[in-house]
Amino acid sequence: MTHPNIEKVLVSQEKLEKIVNSLAKQIEIDYNDKEFVMVGLLKGSIVFMADLMKKVNLDFTIDFMVASSYGSGTESSGKVKLLKDLEISPENKDILIVEDIVDSGNTLNFITNYLMTRGARSVKICTLCDKPARRKVPLTVDYCGTEIPDEFIVGYGLDYDEKYRNLPYIGVLKESVYA
Ligand code: IMP
Ligand code: MG
Repeated sequence: MTHPNIEKVLVSQEKLEKIVNSLAKQIEIDYNDKEFVMVGLLKGSIVFMADLMKKVNLDFTIDFMVASSYGSGTESSGKVKLLKDLEISPENKDILIVEDIVDSGNTLNFITNYLMTRGARSVKICTLCDKPARRKVPLTVDYCGTEIPDEFIVGYGLDYDEKYRNLPYIGVLKESVYA
């Protein structure tokens, strides 16, 4: 049953599985000869990354970062803070960032620059969702699961005020919840 605070389901469980399989195949081809690090941005990426990493049949390591550009609302503040850095050194590493959604692009623009400054050999971006209409800074998204209209979505890792991350689908949150 759909959660009562969900207006409509945007990406079903079945569709999510297909998206993850297709992204994993592309990653397998591109990283076939590389020992890379899959870096998840917490917390939004955890459900997506857990599913994705199981489907990528290569040798790689994982690490996590926490960055924040949002308060508890639905709008990016624009200022990105690094709340948790990598445990490994990114120097000379091929890094694949796994993110739940790209919105303004501020978070990933900041993270990419930061990792390149610290000597990463390459930084690529794999995002489950992209809201291209909302972009404020230019950003190359290397792997994109699905494009999303300009609506606030939750589920499959994505939250509103830290809730709804456990929904197995992606849905549009009822406006009455945050209005
Ligand atoms: P950006 O820095 O503006 O690109 O924002 C990226 C971050 O904002 C994502 O990692 C999410 O945590 C959050 N975000 C953006 N749009 C949504 C949404 O529709 N639902 C939930 N979180 C979102
Ligand atoms: Mg996030």
